[in-house]
Amino acid sequence: ELLKGQAPKKLAWRPSRVHVIGAGTMGADIAGWCVARGMEVTLQDVSPEQITKGIAAQGKLFARKFKTKAQRDAAKARLIADPNGEGIARADVVIEAIVENLAIKQKVLSEIEAKMKPGAVLATNTSSLLIEDIAAGLPDPGRLIGLHFFNPVALMPLVEVVRGSQTREEDVKRGAAFVTAIDKFPLITKSVPGFLVNRVLTPYMFGAMVRLEHGEDKERIDEAARAFGMPMGPIELADTVGLDVCAHVAHILKFSSEGSKLDRLVAEGKLGKKSGEGFYVWEGGKPQKTG
Ligand code: NAI
Repeated sequence: ELLKGQAPKKLAWRPSRVHVIGAGTMGADIAGWCVARGMEVTLQDVSPEQITKGIAAQGKLFARKFKTKAQRDAAKARLIADPNGEGIARADVVIEAIVENLAIKQKVLSEIEAKMKPGAVLATNTSSLLIEDIAAGLPDPGRLIGLHFFNPVALMPLVEVVRGSQTREEDVKRGAAFVTAIDKFPLITKSVPGFLVNRVLTPYMFGAMVRLEHGEDKERIDEAARAFGMPMGPIELADTVGLDVCAHVAHILKFSSEGSKLDRLVAEGKLGKKSGEGFYVWEGGKPQKTG
């Protein structure tokens, strides 16, 4: 009920075309979700293989969402590989989901902004950078909003709509209207480290990792959280989010993880589900029990 007030009033604006840049863990799934909700989506990445892989990975979602082959084929046709960013000029909404690096995001977003049509929404999926810091690199810093999706995109209804100190109200409203149009729940938040959800979730995951360092078994921790009613345990969640992303967010929120198992795993390239191993070994999208 408290959150209901956040739902935007009806706007005349009807987004139908989305451009996503970054076809990794988040970008590919954001693109797939938007397609499943009827949008036409162009998907860009520096790596053409990532685009192919990201598009292929949406087959499962389309199989779940659409009963007929005709519907699935129509969905596939709406998800377009776009290595050169040709969709940017047509898009109603551009979502950036590339590597979490301020300088790279600033550069990529200012190139994109120059190509966008007037009135289109420019959004970043950053999890730990401030909107105003990224916007500082843009010709029009009032345009940028955060659209912070959660992983796994298809299962998480909430999307934080982040308002930077210079973001125009109209862009926040359009961002929230877009989130509603793709059947997700917009939560408008301020641009502060961790926004709202990560500020709460990070101490939870870190608490679990500290227990692990003290010898508690990871499967017991996750089982306890699930028994409490969480859909996923905190260690499994960290692996799903990506341990590099977790370590980065922890650093931003000033959780000291120096010398921790988290830091060791990241240094070894064990980044969780996406790399096949983190706290757990992952096979077929599932954490393997150690027995
Ligand atoms: P990822 O590493 O899986 O994917 C990033 C993709 O961006 C890669 O495919 C890479 O080739 C591409 N890329 C890098 N530089 C590029 C450039 N200059 N132009 C075009 N493509 C480029 O990363 P992930 O996890 O999908 O994160 C992306 C963003 O989403 C980050 O800002 C992260 O903070 C945020 N995020 C991540 C969440 C997660 O659970 N992993 C949750 C919410 C937000």
